[in-house]
Amino acid sequence: SLTPIIAPSILAADFADFGNECRVLQDQGAHWIHVDVMDGHFVPNITFGPQMCAALRPHIKGVMDVHLMITPVDPMIEAFAKSGADILTVHVEAGPHLHRTLQAVKAAGCKAGLAINPATGIEFVPQVLDLIDLICVMTVNPGFGGQKFIHSQLDKIRALRGLIGDRPIDLEIDGGVTVETAPLCVAAGANVLVAGSSVFKGGSVANPAPYGVNMRDL
Ligand code: DX5
Ligand code: ZN
Repeated sequence: SLTPIIAPSILAADFADFGNECRVLQDQGAHWIHVDVMDGHFVPNITFGPQMCAALRPHIKGVMDVHLMITPVDPMIEAFAKSGADILTVHVEAGPHLHRTLQAVKAAGCKAGLAINPATGIEFVPQVLDLIDLICVMTVNPGFGGQKFIHSQLDKIRALRGLIGDRPIDLEIDGGVTVETAPLCVAAGANVLVAGSSVFKGGSVANPAPYGVNMRDL
């Protein structure tokens, strides 16, 4: 099967040393960097905003993959686009007008990602397929790193691969990705794997054993 793109989540990195963390991740073979934006409202945790994304941008050589777990999201899209995000992923659960939100992401010049929580179905996906560049299947409930992979989502991944077919839409998996669960995701049709705690160990690349998992093994 195809070799997945690995997108380490800096949610598991040393928050005081993001520049160095990004450098080591990329030296170790990271293709994308996944940035988890949380607002303490849509999800019960707070991380960082557009100013942090702008500060990260010069340290990321590849794709800056920004996962917006915020509501309302529409008023913040332009600021995150200006911060240099390549992809802005929004949650279907975060707003009443998904189609409008995705249009706003595209109008701001970013690729549009659509995130789907574990309890959310996919009946609405065909209606927005022409607007999206990425679908992010949440295999944990959003808000925290280090949670257990929810296996019932594998059927959803397979169904979405069927819907996507040959369209140039990435199918990304986010949450609980490990050496054990990564192959299941790829077999189900995923081509991008977000990995936080399985990649970082001890929360910092300064740790003598910085990676719990060799990204090349995922
Ligand atoms: C969860 C975030 C994930 C998280 C994944 O809300 O969207 O990106 O960082 O962390 P792990 O890989 O530890 O489950
Ligand atoms: Zn994420």
